[in-house]
Amino acid sequence: MSLTNAGGSPAYRILAIETSCDETAAAVVADGRHIFSNRVASQIEIHRRFGGVYPEVASRQHVLAIQTVVEDALADASVAHVRELDAIAVTHGPGLAGSLLVGVNLAKGLAFASGLPLIPVNHLEGHIYSNWLYPDRSPDAEYSASEDGNGRTQRSGSASDQFPALILIVSGGHTELVLMEGHCRYRLLGATLDDAAGEAFDKVARLLELGYPGGPAIQAAAESGDAGRFHLPRPLMRPGRRTERQPDAKASSLPTVLPVRGEHRFNFSFSGLKTAVLNLMRQLEREGTEARQPQSAADIAAAFQMAVVDVLVGKTADAAAEFGVKQVCICGGVSANGLLRRSAEQHFAQIGLPLHCPPLFLCTDNAAMIGAAAYYRQFYGPARQPSPTGRGHRQDAEAVARSTPRDQPSEPSARDFLALDVYASLPLVDSMQW
Ligand code: KG4
Ligand code: ZN
Repeated sequence: MSLTNAGGSPAYRILAIETSCDETAAAVVADGRHIFSNRVASQIEIHRRFGGVYPEVASRQHVLAIQTVVEDALADASVAHVRELDAIAVTHGPGLAGSLLVGVNLAKGLAFASGLPLIPVNHLEGHIYSNWLYPDRSPDAEYSASEDGNGRTQRSGSASDQFPALILIVSGGHTELVLMEGHCRYRLLGATLDDAAGEAFDKVARLLELGYPGGPAIQAAAESGDAGRFHLPRPLMRPGRRTERQPDAKASSLPTVLPVRGEHRFNFSFSGLKTAVLNLMRQLEREGTEARQPQSAADIAAAFQMAVVDVLVGKTADAAAEFGVKQVCICGGVSANGLLRRSAEQHFAQIGLPLHCPPLFLCTDNAAMIGAAAYYRQFYGPARQPSPTGRGHRQDAEAVARSTPRDQPSEPSARDFLALDVYASLPLVDSMQW
C-alpha cells in the first residue's frame, strides 16, 4: 500500500524497535509524527518480585516476546511485509547491554533481509521526540487529510518546529536539561550529579514498601497524603522570592525556591533527598510512629513528590527564562507524574510559553518515540548529506523528504551496516553526543 502526504511524496514509514530496558516494543511511525501502530509488552509483573529490573531476566524476556511484538506492530499498521516500509530503526543505547542486543540483532537481521536502511537511535533522543508524535493513531484514510497545505504536519498538542526548545528529560536513568537548538542539535545544560529523578522515586517507594515501579506507587500514595506535614529539602535550590526570578511577579506560580547560583544552577541531585526520607523515617520510628503506616507513608510520599516537582519545575522555568526558549518539552517516565504535569502546566500557562508533555502512553518506554527520532535523525541529523542546492537545514530536510526516500543514495544500506559491523560488538551503551 502506498501512502502519500499532502506534499505528494510518499509517507516515510519506519518500523522501530525498542528493547533498552524492560519493555519489548515495536511501532510503525510515518513521517516522524504519525503512529500507525505501537505495541509494548511490559515485563513489570515479572520484575515486581525482584523490586527492580533484573537484567538477565529482562533480556531473556525480550527474546521470548520480540517476534510477536514486531509481528503485531506490523499487522496493526496493515503492513504485510517489512519491504513495504522505508527504514528500520532500533535503540542502540543507552540501556542494558543484554536487552539492547536483542532489539539490535533483530533489527539488523530485518534490515539485512529487506535491504532497508537501519537507523540507530539514542534512547534519550527517542524520549525527546515522543513530544513530536501525534497522540492519536493515524488511520490510513485520514493520513493525507491531516496534513497542512505545505505538506508538513502540524497539529496542536504536539511540539512544533520552533527552536530553541528546552527539554527536561526525567526517566529512571536520566535527569537532564537540554537546550534543543534545532532538530537533532542539542546542548546539555545540566544533569543529575547522582540519582535520576525516577530512580529516586523507585528508591523511596522501596523504603516505604509501596511497591514497584516506584513512580506510580508514590503518586498513588501521595493522593491521600498531606504534603505539608513533613518538610523535605529541595537539593541545589535556595530560598527565594518569586520576584527574583520573574520580574512579572503575578505571572509566576513557582514555589519560593530558586536554583542555586553558579555551576550547579541547572544540575540536579536527588540522592540526598532519598537520605532525608530515610532519616525522617528513622526519626518517626524513634518517636514511636510507624513510618510505613498508611497515613505516614502517604504524607512522606506527598512531601517527597512535592520536593522533586519543586526542583524540576523550578530549574526548568529558570532555564526557559535564561535561554529565551520558544517551547518547553518534558519527557521520560517521570513526565507521567500528575503533579509534575499540573505544576509545569500552571507555570508555563501563566507566562504564556507553550509546554508539551507526551500523552501518558508515550511517557514510559515505547518504540513509537524511537520511530519519531529516527525520522528526524535520518533527514535532519548530522550524518545527512548536504543538499546540492546549499539551502538551509530545514529546507534541505523538506527537499529530502519530498523526494523518494527509498532512492536516497546517501543513506547506508543494511549491508553497509553489517559490513562495517558498527554495532556488532557489545557493549552498545553509548553516551549521547550532545
Ligand atoms: O522512561 P522510563 O520508562 O525508563 C527509562 O528510560 O528509565 O522511566 C521509568 C521511570 C521509573 O523510575 C518510574 O518509577 C518512573 O519512570 N515513573 C514515574 C511515574 N511513572 C513512571 N515517576 C513518577 N510518577 C509517575 N507517575
Ligand atoms: Zn526510557
